[in-house]
Amino acid sequence: MPLVTFSNPDYKDKTIYAVAGSHTETILKLAKEYKIPLHHDCQDGECGNCLVRVTSVARKGRMSGHLTDKERTVLTDLGKLSKEDIEQISVDDMPSEWRLACQMIVRDEDILVEY
Ligand code: FES
Repeated sequence: MPLVTFSNPDYKDKTIYAVAGSHTETILKLAKEYKIPLHHDCQDGECGNCLVRVTSVARKGRMSGHLTDKERTVLTDLGKLSKEDIEQISVDDMPSEWRLACQMIVRDEDILVEY
């Protein structure tokens, strides 16, 4: 089970065990379940309020993964992704560190989620 640590300068860090691979367990769903005050609104990849920065805490680096089309659009609108970033992401098959918590599915890797 992956460890997911939620971190925000205004709150104490909280690390939880997540169940990976359900295809429905998003970072936002996990945050809500554990009462972590992660901002959100639409919960559908439209508003960008759930923007988080995700980094791997494992030495092997991030697992591959893709951004949803909604994430790509919102992260570009928010200035977190450039055209070059999008090209690099598709070449490397590595996700951006900026993600939408309502779109990112928890995978089997230990991560730090800054919100
Ligand atoms: Fe609106 Fe995630 S809550 S984009």
